[in-house]
Amino acid sequence: MAVILARHSVTMHAMRIAVVLSATLACACGGSRHDAAVALPKPSRAAESRALFVEVSRVLLHPRCVNCHTPDESPRQGDQSVVHDPPIWRGTGHGVVGMQCSTCHQDKNAELARIPGAPGWKLAPLSMVWLGQTPHAICEQIKDKDRNGGRTLAEVHDHLAFDRLVGWGWAPGADRQPAPGTQQEVAAKFQAWIDSGAECP
Ligand code: HEC
Ligand code: HEC
Repeated sequence: MAVILARHSVTMHAMRIAVVLSATLACACGGSRHDAAVALPKPSRAAESRALFVEVSRVLLHPRCVNCHTPDESPRQGDQSVVHDPPIWRGTGHGVVGMQCSTCHQDKNAELARIPGAPGWKLAPLSMVWLGQTPHAICEQIKDKDRNGGRTLAEVHDHLAFDRLVGWGWAPGADRQPAPGTQQEVAAKFQAWIDSGAECP
């Protein structure tokens, strides 16, 4: 926090100088600290917020996440996000009659068979596509209640922090690479992003 504040005041200082240089408004620079605090910190706070979302999106765009947040009928698998083998269809998200996810995926990883598992294994809805999307597009989607499952940002945070399909990303079984960092770390960054104004990159 101290670092962020220090950075803010450097930016504010630079902006004051810029204002002085732009001449006519020089008198505004003598304004109280209070005026400056209200008028000036916004840009750097927004930049801070955008940078936080870019960091969060390194997790969201990881194969352990995008393999379920796909734009079509099929999940993906592996670090190259290749189409799921055997071929399956999203149906309700849980698959189709006769070929449900739970036919193969159990509530925990089946190590010998290499089948990943967690409670309620299913595809994310088509409104939550992340595979192949930019951080900007994912940010706009996550903020949109029509596309994020009707969640407030606090509720998206809780999903990110506690959901067990999300948690699977850090314990994916077999030789799969876990998502970067920890679930707690990405949830803390997401919270900091909300607190800094939830700006999209
Ligand atoms: C097994 C499939 C699966 C995996 C793997 C998965 N998700 Fe999801 N994800 C879902 C489903 C299903 C939903 C919709 C849940 C709902 O709306 O109740 C969802 C929704 C979400 C949401 C809700 C908000 C929104 O707008 O998208 C977040 C956040 C999320 N997932 C994060 C992640 C992260 C981070 C990872 C990787 C660490 C991940 N998911 C991996 C299936 C998955
Ligand atoms: C007929 C069995 C079967 C069915 C049905 C099935 N899967 Fe899979 N799935 C597998 C196997 C086996 C793997 C492991 C492939 C590997 O990594 O070798 C797998 C891997 C995956 C992965 C890859 C995880 C990763 O990051 O590598 C995802 C995601 C996935 N399945 C989602 C689903 C979803 C969602 C459904 C239902 C719509 C489903 N699967 C239905 C057998 C199945």
